[in-house]
Amino acid sequence: MKSCESYIRDLVAHPKVAETRHLMHHNVSKQEHLLRSARISYRLAPVFGADRGICARAALLHDIDSRLGTWSNHGHIAARVAAQMGEPEPVCRAIVPHMFPVGPAPTSREGWVLVIADKLASLFDVTNFMVGLITGRSQRLRRKLAQSDPFYSARRWRRWT
Ligand SMILES: [Fe+2]
Ligand SMILES: [Fe+2]
Repeated sequence: MKSCESYIRDLVAHPKVAETRHLMHHNVSKQEHLLRSARISYRLAPVFGADRGICARAALLHDIDSRLGTWSNHGHIAARVAAQMGEPEPVCRAIVPHMFPVGPAPTSREGWVLVIADKLASLFDVTNFMVGLITGRSQRLRRKLAQSDPFYSARRWRRWT
């Protein structure tokens, strides 16, 4: 059986995905959220009769450039980026409605898998962050990401600490 990593290896090396290592998302790195979403999608795909490769690739790209959009429309933005990166239509179609029930409903099995996988991954992100608060790991990581992520100006960061 093909592993999740083998479906997404080329994408992980792409600069658009590589840069997410330095961006903050749900108080963890965006790459951590994307990889977690991809692994959950890969596991859920057979349960829903969906294509594992499409699910894993859509999940890895579903929040790319999300800051350029809003809560409800950033799926469209990420789908457009995925198309520019050469992803086929089923991958882009699964990305668009990942915020459901905010925004449109999925129109494919792969889209439904991503809706569920993204919510589960977000829950894990938040849980991991909270557990890490006890050891101090979360504060260290957040400080590091706030420095590497251009969105978090020094002023904004001071307000959050
Ligand atoms: Fe999202
Ligand atoms: Fe997400």
